[in-house]
Amino acid sequence: MPNRTRMIAGNWKMNKTYSEGVTLAQELSNALKEAAVSGVDVVVCPPLVDLKGVAGVIDFDKAPFALGAQNVYWEESGAFTGETAPGMLTDVGCTYCIIGHSERRGYFGETDEDINKKSKALIAHKIVPISCCGESLETREAGKQVEFVVNQIKADCAGLDITSGDQLVIAYEPIWAIGTGKTATPEDAQEVCGAIRKTLVEIFGEAIASQIRVLYGGSAKPGNVLGFLEKEDVDGALVGGASLTADGFSQMIQKAAE
Ligand code: 13P
Repeated sequence: MPNRTRMIAGNWKMNKTYSEGVTLAQELSNALKEAAVSGVDVVVCPPLVDLKGVAGVIDFDKAPFALGAQNVYWEESGAFTGETAPGMLTDVGCTYCIIGHSERRGYFGETDEDINKKSKALIAHKIVPISCCGESLETREAGKQVEFVVNQIKADCAGLDITSGDQLVIAYEPIWAIGTGKTATPEDAQEVCGAIRKTLVEIFGEAIASQIRVLYGGSAKPGNVLGFLEKEDVDGALVGGASLTADGFSQMIQKAAE
């Protein structure tokens, strides 16, 4: 049985100003230190303008979590107004970056091809992509969720140059469960996460794929997270709403440490 360290990642989305973000990071650091949580990898992904402030809390407070961005562009620099290069993220202390979130695919027209380029650029800069996938309600009702997500993984992960499983994280987030209060069941999550793992084995081989963390996301909260984590191919959670308070998020992390 592979021994993958569980991961709980918080996606703050477009919430928390710079000062609110610094306060939340400080509160989370205090809560995690007080609870002396260990054995779980924790990542927080604030909005871009908060990154430097949260990095400051991590540095000065030795906060027990890593820093992630919510998006990146694949070019190194240049005339791409409004975009952020991977090297800029590294320079402020990011070691993770969410890519391919369904909100970016849906509202901003990101394609699998874009996501693949972003992953390659991040990996080249030693930033770990948290690469998101997931089906719509329509696809699920048609019973095509496994086929759909497997195709996303094949396109998003094609040709990635990784030599170990800790260079990539996958997040399975069924779109119909995001921010809706409607969670997938642990069995729904395992069905798709298991298929994701098999696809990762085809792409990267058993040794690497067995070490890649596959997270569940979609209305995950302290009360339901353990049900997901108990499933064989679910190694953690990507958390939206419930990551916006130090109390709720640290409770989830403590559950994952159990
Ligand atoms: P919620 O936890 O708010 O449903 O959001 C999930 C998500 O999209 C995390 O990336």
